[in-house]
Amino acid sequence: MIHRPRRLRRTPALRALVREHAVRLDSLVQPIFVVERSQDAGPISSMPGIERFTVDGALAHARELARLGLRSVLLFGIPANKDARGSAAADPNGPVVRAIRAIKDELPEMLLIADVCNCEYTDHGHCGIVDERGDVDNDATLTLLVQAALAYAQAGVDVVAPSDMMDGRVEAIRRALDAQGLHHIAIMAYSAKYASAFYGPFREAAGSSPRFGDRRTYQMDPANAREAIREIDLDIAQGADMVIIKPGLAYLDLVRAARDTFDVPIAVYNVSGEYSMLMAAFANGWLERDRTIDETLLAFVRAGADIIITYFAKEYAQRYAAAGRP
Ligand code: PBG
Repeated sequence: MIHRPRRLRRTPALRALVREHAVRLDSLVQPIFVVERSQDAGPISSMPGIERFTVDGALAHARELARLGLRSVLLFGIPANKDARGSAAADPNGPVVRAIRAIKDELPEMLLIADVCNCEYTDHGHCGIVDERGDVDNDATLTLLVQAALAYAQAGVDVVAPSDMMDGRVEAIRRALDAQGLHHIAIMAYSAKYASAFYGPFREAAGSSPRFGDRRTYQMDPANAREAIREIDLDIAQGADMVIIKPGLAYLDLVRAARDTFDVPIAVYNVSGEYSMLMAAFANGWLERDRTIDETLLAFVRAGADIIITYFAKEYAQRYAAAGRP
């Protein structure tokens, strides 16, 4: 036999020498949930190890992440009061705005990304203004998204990440930011965001399950792949600097397709349900924790993701800090 691929797998150093991909700490983004009222803070039962933090708690958490070598976080807000329009999303004293100010003040080098969407802020749980037919009114919602993006940008966020899936929101946000001289704020668009069952635990965390109907008139149909390319194309044309594919594990084909088709940085969102199913398997002793996490994160890199938004970021960094090289 001339060809023996096993020759290159013989020793750890040889395997390391020919290793094609690695997960970089710099590409991990830890999501953080920030509440307005201290009584809403605390653990999230469907996401063991993940908490809702007050603004002070979020700052302490960010400090810990920075100490572990993580450089980016994605902020979600959970307001005290929800209304039909989700007005609290743009509240200049809301939890996200206050967290941005507090973290930037103490940790100016930490990259702050703010999720821009109304579902955590509306009493009906939809991502925008619901019209008399029970439909989310696309263009009326754009105004709210723009207000929220401006509030976060003015507070000092680095990146805004619209996750609502309204048509035209990237252009509306870009124009509004530019009109205020906020040219330096980048847009990371959730371009290919599917109507997925894997968001279940997040909706418990944010109390954002729709009270009626579902998100299928704005989030994408899991059966569609070509349409993801079209969505990404439109968002880039409207000024998106980076794009997100979400969820992650069940959509790795799209991460690869996006990587091969576009030259902007591609992010993948390893969502709440993907986190929770692995945590449940770890708790049962069914899967080996460290190896499964490494393999999962590596799959995103191999598929072509530059950026990985994951609830495992802190744990991965912790292990990295302790072991040098997980
Ligand atoms: C807000 C938003 C959601 C997630 C990120 N941004 C929830 C949703 O669309 O229902 C999900 C994140 C996760 O599941 O980890 N629209």
